[in-house]
Amino acid sequence: MNARIAVIPGDGIGREVVAQAGRVLQAVGGLALEALPWGADHYLKTGITIPAGGYDTLRSFDAILVGALGDPRVPDNRHARDILLGTRFELDLYVNHRPVRLLDDRLCPLKNRSSRDIDFVVFRENTEGLYVGAGGRMRPDTDEEIAIQEEVNTYRGVHRIVHYAFEFARARGLTKVCMADKSNAMTHGHALWQRVFKKMASDYPDVQATHLYIDALAMFLVQSPDQFQVIVTNNLFGDIITDIGGALQGGLGMAASGNIHPGRTSMFEPVHGSAPPLAGKNVANPIGAILSAALMLETLGRAEDARRIERAVEQAVHAGETTRDIGGSLGTTEAGAAIVKRLR
Ligand SMILES: NC(=O)c1ccc[n+]([C@@H]2O[C@H](COP(=O)([O-])OP(=O)(O)OC[C@H]3O[C@@H](n4cnc5c(N)ncnc54)[C@H](O)[C@@H]3O)[C@@H](O)[C@H]2O)c1
Repeated sequence: MNARIAVIPGDGIGREVVAQAGRVLQAVGGLALEALPWGADHYLKTGITIPAGGYDTLRSFDAILVGALGDPRVPDNRHARDILLGTRFELDLYVNHRPVRLLDDRLCPLKNRSSRDIDFVVFRENTEGLYVGAGGRMRPDTDEEIAIQEEVNTYRGVHRIVHYAFEFARARGLTKVCMADKSNAMTHGHALWQRVFKKMASDYPDVQATHLYIDALAMFLVQSPDQFQVIVTNNLFGDIITDIGGALQGGLGMAASGNIHPGRTSMFEPVHGSAPPLAGKNVANPIGAILSAALMLETLGRAEDARRIERAVEQAVHAGETTRDIGGSLGTTEAGAAIVKRLR
């Protein structure tokens, strides 16, 4: 049976990069892709961000592939909030899996570092933290305004993401898990992370469990990224440090991600956004979207197909058959074709 994949191209370059990921998936085969029109155009035309029953529609698929959401014509980003954050929360996709792997030494932004030094995974908690929208504004738009944005950390939420990180390390034969928080300043919420992490570490004597404050982690990601294998952190910090991760891979266009609830319908998307200045110019790098599709196949139990796609991407990058942002001279469509050619 073909796996059924919901495809939400979304806005801007999201549409262009997802078209290339779709071609790659068609070349691999065994999938039925169904496009959903949700995005800024659809919202501006109909007033609907995600239709009634939309999250149930998504649950009926085996997986979801998204391009990017965000459009200057929707300044409050309402549609993106409903479609992207809404799906993460409604489908309880608590693991944000973001691999950081440098595919070619040429793309390394650091001195005296190579692809041997940059190969780790970030697990970002995806359903809690500062992104739950708790808080409010008193006396808005006055000089007396008070704006409160509250961070939510639950035992259950912290426990399951930390557990996922340790289990991932063990399953892959990795020996290091680093948890990053700001427990020296955020003494309530992050004390919970400390407690859960220390207790969990004692159940994994085969894994070296270390802790860094998030500011120190940001520094070490640049200074000595080779020390990391698995990083686990909260929603906000994970969001920020994976942009550093994107830079370590050669740029945001290279970075892939999965929003996962093990055993349930999960959602895969490049880390980058809709990049309005690049949209419609056939210049966006499709590799982040294509590697997200590979991560999707791996999560669907098709690890061999995922490796095939990764190898094809690597070969295209080594051959310089890429978009300009990583030193090639191809357009988005042609860069996608270079990868598809290698799959065949
Ligand atoms: N997951 C998502 O859908 C997502 C993520 C981030 C931002 N956004 C939204 O996207 C819009 C633009 O946000 P932004 O400009 O801060 O971030 P962005 O990731 O869209 O772009 C930032 C810059 O990174 C580079 N870049 C990004 N993707 C690239 C690619 N595939 N190929 C080549 N270069 C690439 C470009 O130089 C671009 O100007 C906003 O509306 C924002 O809310 C959406």
